[in-house]
Amino acid sequence: MCGIVGYVGKKNAAPFLLEGLSALEYRGYDSAGMYVSGAGALKRAGKVAELIACVPDDFEGKSGIAHTRWATHGAPTELNAHPHTDASKTVWLVHNGIIENHSEIRKDLEAKGVVFASQTDSEALAQLIGHLYTEDMLLEDAVRAALAQVQGTYGVAVASTREPEKVVVARMGSPLMLGVGEDGIYVASDATPILPYTRKAVYLDDGEMAIITDQGYVITDADEAHVDKPVTSLEWSAEAAQKKGYEHFMLKEIMEVGEVIENTLRGRLDTANATAILGGFQDTDIHGYLKHAKRIIITGCGSAYYAGLIGKTMIEELAGIPVEVEIASELRYRRPTADPKDTVLIAVSQSGETADTLEAIRAAKRQGILTLGIVNVVGSTVARETDAGVYNHAGPEIGVASTKAFISQVLVFALVALHLARERGLSKQEGSDFIKELETLPEKARAILTRTKAIEAVAKKYAHTRDFLYLGRKFQCPIAFEGALKLKEISYIHAEGYGAGEMKHGPLALIDTDFPSLVLAPRDSMYEKTASNIEEIRARSGKVIALTTDGNDDITRLADDVLYVPETHEALLPVLTTIPLQLFAYYIAKERDCPIDKPRNLAKSVTVE
Ligand code: G6P
Repeated sequence: MCGIVGYVGKKNAAPFLLEGLSALEYRGYDSAGMYVSGAGALKRAGKVAELIACVPDDFEGKSGIAHTRWATHGAPTELNAHPHTDASKTVWLVHNGIIENHSEIRKDLEAKGVVFASQTDSEALAQLIGHLYTEDMLLEDAVRAALAQVQGTYGVAVASTREPEKVVVARMGSPLMLGVGEDGIYVASDATPILPYTRKAVYLDDGEMAIITDQGYVITDADEAHVDKPVTSLEWSAEAAQKKGYEHFMLKEIMEVGEVIENTLRGRLDTANATAILGGFQDTDIHGYLKHAKRIIITGCGSAYYAGLIGKTMIEELAGIPVEVEIASELRYRRPTADPKDTVLIAVSQSGETADTLEAIRAAKRQGILTLGIVNVVGSTVARETDAGVYNHAGPEIGVASTKAFISQVLVFALVALHLARERGLSKQEGSDFIKELETLPEKARAILTRTKAIEAVAKKYAHTRDFLYLGRKFQCPIAFEGALKLKEISYIHAEGYGAGEMKHGPLALIDTDFPSLVLAPRDSMYEKTASNIEEIRARSGKVIALTTDGNDDITRLADDVLYVPETHEALLPVLTTIPLQLFAYYIAKERDCPIDKPRNLAKSVTVE
């Protein structure tokens, strides 16, 4: 894994392939390479820029494939970079995913005299295709025969020197899409590389294969039958996926928060009935199921999981339905205990492609549980595999650390909680009050963005600390987890998130003058308790940054530094308190000169287990 692009058409393929790889850099990678028919293959360990620098002027051909690799099997070297080829250098392949039985395939082929060049699982597939690809065979038949022997996940694009104007792509568990352009067919693992060239997209599903030639494309399913796939329109503009003058995507994405909140709420607030309208829940069956659900399980990974923790408190407080939240990588391996009659699974995923989240959904479906998705990427695998769902409408998120998508996830949970609560006894008045508060959020979020100078100043003060503790209670407890995650992801400072009430059960032992704490202490139902927790830290000479609500002067006697957000309904405060924490992490990482948009060792979308 990590990113794939391909092209067959009237133009020279190389410029698109290289631009496409650059557009996919945000996903995280450690080497890059491409194959162009008639010109050959080029690979480099390191950045796409290094690959671009070594491309000769006459590197031309009308079709090609390219890849950014994020090492899973074998070190990030030039030899292990894609494309991989077979012994006769006829077949060229780029692959995302994992070939689980690669050692068996390798052993088998080696016994037949095939010599391998790399340590990768992907080469085993390239060699297998080459081995099966007899003189009278078409490339697609050889690819199909090889994939039939493969266990694991793949998004593959395959080219052949024998059939130069052709690329065969296939998908099983790793996303691939086609862009239908006027001058050719584009291939990519997500929409970003395709956007500047065409708006017309075709998403492949698991088990499908596309045979792309200079005449167009044909899609077949696992039984080789032709499939008529709908051509959908890509709504995101290419410009939206660029930095708009900000130094980093992360900052640009935080600064978009007002618009993101408006987009997430748009058309979903029903003031007449004091509820939220969620298109995906309108279907009679889904509506009936939700109305009688006795238990909700929320799942996701990383920030999406933390959004789920806030969702739990919102749904329990407003609607009174018991909710559990499970990390998807754990949930997928747990013994199922839920009753499909009245249990609903809600999967949260920005990308809609996270492997563990997908498997947790599939496990729930096998049990007959209704699955709902909260997803940002339209047409993604989670969106397609769940029974219904809600799109975030947060727009493309390029920075590896989730910011605006996280906020929109929390907001979608507020809408879900309101919707469920109004069906279970929340009064019309309470529903109306909640909606009024929701409507104030874009303006309040924008007000926080005018305070970046103050946040930056505090961030600079603490930028060279080694550790950080983030504390919060009730609605703010998951925000403490998320704040700590943000800081460690992008600044590499060790940070832990804790429920403030747990301090005396361990973390207090860490506190001294060099171990600062950031305490989420808005004037909500937990304020007095949280203030006592701050006192405990102060008594151990710990430094405290407090994040509170406007007008709370009381806190200045307790904290070394104070950051403020506007007041709102307690359940909606997480939407606001997250923003200064994102900016705080951003300015600390900037001060430490970290590669903010692409932190080391991390990927935007984790499509392998
Ligand atoms: C990666 C990203 C996180 C994200 C998580 C889940 O770890 O770096 O920002 O929260 O994956 O991704 P998803 O696309 O499923 O929300």
